[in-house]
Amino acid sequence: MIVDLACCITFKVDKLTIIMSFWRLLFASLIAFGLAAYAFGAAVLPADEVKALRDIAKTLGKTDWNFSADPCGGQWGWANPNAEEGSENAVSCNCTFSNATICHVTSISIIGNRFTGPIPKEIGNISTLVNFTVEFNQFSGVLPPELGNLSRLEKLHLTSNKFTGQLPAAFEKLTALKDFRIGDNQFTGEIPNLIQKWTNLQKLVIQGSGLSGPIPPGIAVLEKMTDLRISDLQGNGTGVPFPPLANMTKLKTLILRSCNITGRIPDFVGELSSLTTLDLSFNKLNGEIPASFFGIRKADYIDLSYNNFRNESSCQQRNINLFGSASMGNVSGRTVPCLRILPCQKKFYSFHINCGGKAATIEGNLYEDDTDPAGPSRFYQRSNWAVSTTGHFMDDSRPDSYTWTNATKLSANTSSLYMDARLSPTSLTYYGFCMGSGNYTVSLHFAEIMFTNDNTSSSLGRRLFDIYIQGKLVQKNFSIQNEASGVGKAIIKNFTAIVTGGALEIRFYWAGKGTTGLPVRGVYGPLISAISVTPDFKPPSENSSTGISAGTVVGIVAAAGLLLDGTIIAVKQLSSKSKQGNREFVNEIGMISALQHPHLVKLYGCCIEGDQLLLVYEYMENNSLARALFGPEEYRLNLNWATRQKICVGIARGLAYLHEESRLKIVHRDIKATNVLLDENLDPKISDFGLARLDEEDNTHISTRVAGTLFGQQPKIINIALFLKEEGALLELVDPSLGQDYNEEEVITMINVALLCSNVSAAVRPTMSAVVSMLEGKAGVQDFEIPDKSKPMDEHKIEEMRKHFQVINRQEISETQTQSMSMDGPWTAASTSDGDLYPISLNSDYWKGRD
Ligand SMILES: *[C@@H]1O[C@H](CO)[C@@H](O)[C@H](O)[C@H]1NC(C)=O
Ligand SMILES: *[C@@H]1O[C@H](CO)[C@@H](O)[C@H](O)[C@H]1NC(C)=O
Ligand SMILES: *[C@@H]1O[C@H](CO)[C@@H](O)[C@H](O)[C@H]1NC(C)=O
Ligand SMILES: *[C@@H]1O[C@H](CO)[C@@H](O)[C@H](O)[C@H]1NC(C)=O
Ligand SMILES: *[C@@H]1O[C@H](CO)[C@@H](O)[C@H](O)[C@H]1NC(C)=O
Ligand SMILES: *[C@@H]1O[C@H](CO)[C@@H](O)[C@H](O)[C@H]1NC(C)=O
Ligand SMILES: *[C@@H]1O[C@H](CO)[C@@H](O)[C@H](O)[C@H]1NC(C)=O
Ligand SMILES: *[C@@H]1O[C@H](CO)[C@@H](O)[C@H](O)[C@H]1NC(C)=O
Ligand SMILES: *[C@@H]1O[C@H](CO)[C@@H](O)[C@H](O)[C@H]1NC(C)=O
Ligand SMILES: *[C@@H]1O[C@H](CO)[C@@H](O)[C@H](O)[C@H]1NC(C)=O
Ligand SMILES: *[C@@H]1O[C@H](CO)[C@@H](O)[C@H](O)[C@H]1NC(C)=O
Ligand SMILES: *[C@@H]1O[C@H](CO)[C@@H](O)[C@H](O)[C@H]1NC(C)=O
Repeated sequence: MIVDLACCITFKVDKLTIIMSFWRLLFASLIAFGLAAYAFGAAVLPADEVKALRDIAKTLGKTDWNFSADPCGGQWGWANPNAEEGSENAVSCNCTFSNATICHVTSISIIGNRFTGPIPKEIGNISTLVNFTVEFNQFSGVLPPELGNLSRLEKLHLTSNKFTGQLPAAFEKLTALKDFRIGDNQFTGEIPNLIQKWTNLQKLVIQGSGLSGPIPPGIAVLEKMTDLRISDLQGNGTGVPFPPLANMTKLKTLILRSCNITGRIPDFVGELSSLTTLDLSFNKLNGEIPASFFGIRKADYIDLSYNNFRNESSCQQRNINLFGSASMGNVSGRTVPCLRILPCQKKFYSFHINCGGKAATIEGNLYEDDTDPAGPSRFYQRSNWAVSTTGHFMDDSRPDSYTWTNATKLSANTSSLYMDARLSPTSLTYYGFCMGSGNYTVSLHFAEIMFTNDNTSSSLGRRLFDIYIQGKLVQKNFSIQNEASGVGKAIIKNFTAIVTGGALEIRFYWAGKGTTGLPVRGVYGPLISAISVTPDFKPPSENSSTGISAGTVVGIVAAAGLLLDGTIIAVKQLSSKSKQGNREFVNEIGMISALQHPHLVKLYGCCIEGDQLLLVYEYMENNSLARALFGPEEYRLNLNWATRQKICVGIARGLAYLHEESRLKIVHRDIKATNVLLDENLDPKISDFGLARLDEEDNTHISTRVAGTLFGQQPKIINIALFLKEEGALLELVDPSLGQDYNEEEVITMINVALLCSNVSAAVRPTMSAVVSMLEGKAGVQDFEIPDKSKPMDEHKIEEMRKHFQVINRQEISETQTQSMSMDGPWTAASTSDGDLYPISLNSDYWKGRD
């Protein structure tokens, strides 16, 4: 009889409310029978726990709990021992209490069902509960505060439901919690501070939960944490600094993605010695990447992509994903600065990709092959497009797979384009390069091929992701299944993209929404079957768009060129002494061009034509520092002190990078005004770095002569400076054209630093990072010891010296011009007059011809 009642009560409340009320009354009157039951075997489940289970079953409409059987017996719906992964449905008990006479419920799992409505507050009465899991359902409403009574609760998994509201304040009592997951919900409010009370917490997952930032700094006390994942915080809170997690030394996984974190990455992050996965992507982190970072060797995956770091290095350094990690730049037609885009051979007006699949011709269009296995930090380039995948599929025992083939039949008339798809756990980006300007139609072809529409848990999967075109969000929480009205069905979404700078970016991003464990753990994130991009205009005829070929640039020396995508470049020609070692040289150039820093001139690439080598550099609007200071009158720039200071600090930063931070340790040895180029903002960039390395067998820092210093080859200047310093008249060195317009303290610091750097003893010379600190005023300049006091200069020589100093720089140019030609590599500059990218002392015809 009770069985029958239970069945009736499971009818959907909304349809049969009146009948339900009736049965409920009837049911309540029979409860006494239930309380008397369940003395199966030796151990007994106390009546109040049975009642709580009953109440839960009633609230949930859960039909498979058979109250004629023992809830702790593991039968009749109380357990599904052979459950598919992701759909466990079990109650388990501990029956060892009171000399094995009493049972208590310790675990309830209701995973991957279609339960709706609020969590029954009666759960709070099962005080012995240790694990409570309701992942991948449709539960909604506010969490009952009664759950806060579960003082033994260790595992609380609420992922992928529709919970709303805030976490109840009573949750602060859940101090036994070890594992708390609330991703993919619709909670509101900030991440509550009460989390810091959970001092036993080891795993915390708040991804796409609906909660907003900031991450409460109080969680710093959770020192047992091994796995912390917070991502996709909502809200309009201001950017906050990196949370102070220095004491979470046991962290193995740290994901703080898209959390609006600003400022620098603190040094301690690089010192978390257990870290294996680190994802700080999609924040606003800036400044330098701490040097300690490059020492995290244990981590198999570090993602710093999409941030605002100052160092725009290569897209990838060892295990660190740096894709788009520096300023994201302007949105329309932006390119990712870390890419080494070789000159466009021609303009393109379309492309078609069979994402994740082999080349296929569909309706007359060739969809190109995209079967690269990809990886957690993978970038590869095809004809005029490229693709980037990021992230690991988490909690997945399978090897990561970034492509997928349909597991079941597709619906009729669905083309073979949809049989394979490209996947990515976090972000998946397709780039079009060398595109002609104009409006394009981007057609995105989707079909859900990982879920099924049968009765297995696989049919309960929900995939949601966001779509960005040219950096703009065009579709949030996109669901292929909903849009196509089912799985295995194709849906094409069209978007317009405006291309102005040659580049088109289509990005798919998983914002923590949708299920992550159906049909198996690790199934989530964007999925795309094919992409076609076609112009909304008639492209110009083929032959008018041939562009600069590698061959045509030969012979242009130190010239500016214009690439078809609108990038202005500078080309430098070197000629070969011997053809041997060309390959090594090209390898070397590859490595050098991977060295990127805001204060290094970007080397885009090189081409070899016979015995000529062309190096393609970024174009510098303001030419060289030499031209700005000492060039022909009409080219000189009136650089004020602040600009000069900025230039010096910039040079020092660039050198610090070369000496201390970059992968290849490089000593420039040839820093001079002609090798310092100025961009449109008069920010300095060092050129010709790395080339001097080409003749060195090893790349150690050994350097006995005074080299690589700003005044390196200028002993005369040093002597003057030393003399003036002794006389307390260092300011005499200041360029008279500055007048009184300078900061005395900065000038003195600058000169002192320069003198320090000119010391013949390497042990005394400061490191470049120390130089940067001193120039920026963050560190004091140690008082410089004058090495040679025995030869003081005569007072009457000062005036002479000063005159000399005013002209010396012009001489410096011609002197060093010659010196720079002494490079002993397999390659030398083409002639003795144009070794520099922007030669200073060419005749006026050159300057006229340039512009
Ligand atoms: C409920 O469990 C009893 C055993 O206690 C069993 O005889 C009965 O068939 C079960 N009912 C259902 C509907 O499974
Ligand atoms: C059952 O509970 C007892 C007493 O609290 C405890 O010692 C034992 O470890 C528990 N057994 C299991 C399997 O959790
Ligand atoms: C526990 O049970 C065992 C065997 O059933 C019995 O020998 C023992 O006396 C019991 N202990 C207590 C404290 O009741
Ligand atoms: C709770 O879950 C953890 C982790 O899944 C498991 O190791 C433990 O045995 C579970 N405890 C109980 C009482 O079910
Ligand atoms: C929880 O248990 C207490 C007694 O332990 C009882 O008074 C209360 O009504 C129960 N609450 C619910 C919601 O079942
Ligand atoms: C359970 O929690 C509720 C709400 O937080 C509280 O009012 C109640 O007193 C608690 N009951 C027990 C037995 O702790
Ligand atoms: C954003 O701020 C406004 C004004 O303070 C507030 O009304 C709104 O609720 C906030 N939105 C979110 C998502 O926090
Ligand atoms: C991130 O912070 C900025 C301020 O720095 C704020 O304007 C923006 O709305 C924040 N975004 C989110 C999602 O909180
Ligand atoms: C880390 O722990 C130490 C020692 O307990 C404490 O002094 C320090 O304040 C803690 N740091 C943070 C950031 O919580
Ligand atoms: C994939 O889809 C195609 C086309 O519907 C079908 O022929 C093929 O059998 C499917 N593959 C599997 C494994 O079901
Ligand atoms: C390109 O598209 C934008 C936005 O849809 C539109 O405003 C503009 O007029 C279009 N330009 C051309 C040349 O069609
Ligand atoms: C999408 O664009 C393609 C190519 O321009 C066009 O053939 C197709 O009809 C468009 N589909 C829709 C739904 O607009």
